[in-house]
Order: sequence, then C-alpha cells, then structure tokens
Amino acid sequence: MSGRTPLVAANWKMHKVRAEARDYCTELRRRIEGVRGAEVVLFPGFTLLGTVAEALAGSSIAWGGQDLHPVPQGAHTGDVSGAQLADVGCSWVLCGHSERRQDHGESDELIGAKAAAARHSGIKPMVCIGETEEQRSSGRTFEVLDRQLAAALGAEPRPGAIAYEPVWAIGTGKTATPELAQEVHAFLRRRLEKALGSAGTALRLLYGGSVKPANAAELFAQPDIDGFLVGGAGLDPGQFFDIIGSSCA
Ligand code: PGA
Repeated sequence: MSGRTPLVAANWKMHKVRAEARDYCTELRRRIEGVRGAEVVLFPGFTLLGTVAEALAGSSIAWGGQDLHPVPQGAHTGDVSGAQLADVGCSWVLCGHSERRQDHGESDELIGAKAAAARHSGIKPMVCIGETEEQRSSGRTFEVLDRQLAAALGAEPRPGAIAYEPVWAIGTGKTATPELAQEVHAFLRRRLEKALGSAGTALRLLYGGSVKPANAAELFAQPDIDGFLVGGAGLDPGQFFDIIGSSCA
C-alpha cells in the first residue's frame, strides 16, 4: 500500500451542454453515494462549470477547469484566470494537456507558469505530460518526460498531481500495457522523490490514455499508478463510475 489516496478524474474536453452536464452529475452523485476510498474530479468545459458547481454542491465530487491563463487578470480575450476558476468552486485545473500542447503550441515553460498561477489562486494543478509515438519510437520517451516533469516541478509551489498520458494512447483505443505504464510511473516516481523528497512520494501519479472499465483494474494494480485521467469513457457516468470502482484502495 502506497498510502496515497486514489484520484480519478474525467476530462470532458469540448463535450456536453448544460442539460447533459446536469443529468451526468445527478447520475454520478446517485451512484457514488457511500463510495469511499477514492477522490473524484470532473473537468467540464468553462461554460458548464456553474451548472456542475450547482449540481455537485455538497457532494464529495470536486470539479476543475481544463486550462487557465498564467496571469491573475488583464486584457486576455478568451482566457480564464485562476481567480475566476476559484470563484466557481474549482479545486483543480488541468495544465498542459497534450491537446493544448498540440492545438495551442503550449510550451513546457508556459505550462509551468500556469501551474504556479493555479497554486497562487488556491487551485491544485494536474499537470499532464507524455511522449508522442514518434518520440517513443525514436527512443526519446524518458528524455521528453524528464524535461516536461522538470518544467512542471520548476513551478513553485509544486503541482497537485501529475498525469502521465502517452499521446499515442489518447483517444486511440491503444492503452499502454500495465507493464509499460508502470515502467514510466516508476521512473517518474524516482524523479519526483529526487526532486521533492517525501513530498515526491506523496504526490499522486495518474495514468491517462484510453482507460476503460475493462482495463482500469489491471492498470490500477501497478504500484505507482494512483488513479486515472479519463477522456472518452469519462463522458458516461456509468463507465466512469466503474473505473472509480476499480480504483478504490
Ligand atoms: P482518452 O483521453 O481516455 O479518451 O484516451 C484521455 C485524456 O485525454 O485525458
């Protein structure tokens, strides 16, 4: 037993409108009542945060934004600040999801600044890292992860959690094998402990990339996998609940 509380998060990406968000939250709340042993977080789109906050008020389920701007306020059309996320009750925020790295050209440095901004707003950053297929096949996986992790940890204070999401496994149905995921998580754990000491032992390392009810239990059985960041299967409350069930300590 690692002593780390499992953490399971659903990233809704650019899916759902308010009525769907409300129905999802009602259903997940109903199912989750009485379930102990895992921390659960939803990452809806910005326009849904108010609805989700209302629907989850008083429950054990937390919610967060999918991104934030690194400065606290100002002339940044279309962006959202940490203070604005905190204002709608967010306790988490995703930083550096590979889709933001790809679609918006986010650099490691920017992601580190976002993680620091989140902390300054009282929100825990869940920093996403992961190699592309090309980086893996050219033998650069650990070099890439080392660089991405160092940028995340350079942000003071440190992240709330790290999500390892191999880019080639996101939305593709190609999950990393439990052995491959554990190999990377063990590497990241050693790096975290070297950088942060006992805080590095306590930090939760999540796996993401085509996690489903059918593969969650064998991934969760790995000693350095502390939970999941789920995309596709997290859009359905039943499937997400089954993944949570496989992740209770
Ligand atoms: P997926 O997405 O579960 O659909 O592969 C994971 C993610 O992007 O966080």
